[in-house]
Amino acid sequence: MAEIILTNANIVLEDEVIDGTIVFASGEIKSVERGRSALPHALDMEGDFIAPGLIEMHTDNMEKHFVPRPGVFWPDPLAAAVAHDAQMVAAGVTTVYDSICAGFVSKEKDFRRTIFPSVMKAVASGMESGAFRIDHRIHIRCELTGDDVVSEIEPWVGSPLVRLGSLMDHTPGQRQWRNLEDLKRYTVGSGEKSLDEHERDVLARMETGPINCARNWPLVVEMFASRGIPIATHDDTTEEDVIAGVASGAVISEFPTTIEAAAAAHRYGLATIAGAPNVVRGGSHSGGVSAADLAKHSLLDGLSSDYVPASLMQAVLTLVRRDGVSLPAAMGMVTWRVADMLHLSDRGRLDVGQQADIIRFRDAGGTPIIRGVWHKGERAF
Ligand SMILES: [Fe+2]
Repeated sequence: MAEIILTNANIVLEDEVIDGTIVFASGEIKSVERGRSALPHALDMEGDFIAPGLIEMHTDNMEKHFVPRPGVFWPDPLAAAVAHDAQMVAAGVTTVYDSICAGFVSKEKDFRRTIFPSVMKAVASGMESGAFRIDHRIHIRCELTGDDVVSEIEPWVGSPLVRLGSLMDHTPGQRQWRNLEDLKRYTVGSGEKSLDEHERDVLARMETGPINCARNWPLVVEMFASRGIPIATHDDTTEEDVIAGVASGAVISEFPTTIEAAAAAHRYGLATIAGAPNVVRGGSHSGGVSAADLAKHSLLDGLSSDYVPASLMQAVLTLVRRDGVSLPAAMGMVTWRVADMLHLSDRGRLDVGQQADIIRFRDAGGTPIIRGVWHKGERAF
């Protein structure tokens, strides 16, 4: 493969931005240097930023393509996965952990049970056939309050694509739904349920949730741990939540809902992840702590696009422009620090020998414009 030279670029390194030139070939980075290249085949980046390709560990975006309208299941799963892949690369992502949910909790979300096997098969097929522009892995999100979560994940957890597992407990009255008014606003306010349905559902879930969770938690932990799959806790709200995760071998606390929980996560050695939409919107959609506050207290290690792929780069520029975070520090939250928490040593940094996953972007008054993406050294967008 021919050498590619990107010059006249603002290259985002771990602790500085340099005016320089990056060279890559055979899928890996060969050099990163200050100054410009005069070679005729060097590509002029016109002063745009060059940064590592983004690493996304928790996105529900695949779902929107499998179920584009309520009750509509797209008949070609690979086509749905390829459309999702295109959206991720257009957002600057070069490694994505597609998150799929297991564990039935409500009839509104039952479509997740239906699409689980077809997402697994489509991602395997897309990776094998070279249909994707970027790397895909699977993050299995386990709703432990569901009665069938163990049997649902059992046939799939041994797939080499499964590289992250998370433990969720959405019992009303704790964690994400500690404040029942937030839950009411989320389900009744959004039109998902009538007030009557909501109240019946809350009572039922408060009754069965703790029983199912106590039974499923150790079984699911064992399924991940015995295969060396990293574990994340979800919506930690109190120090006790964090301690329960630590006791299960968790290494990531995703979406801690309070400063107290994020601080405990750091004390116990867990990395923290918050939603990039939370940064962009200036707060959580479900009543949790604002991600910008976590960043202010140095309690934020990484960001996830969650339900809006383009939010990653937008959150980076928001942290820089609104909150005074340096560009390298903000960029680290969507690249090298996420690589570290997922134990990915071959990507996430613009270092010699790293996989050539690279993005070119421009800051248009706070709006990120992705102008190029290379994955394993090949132009992907
Ligand atoms: Fe949650």
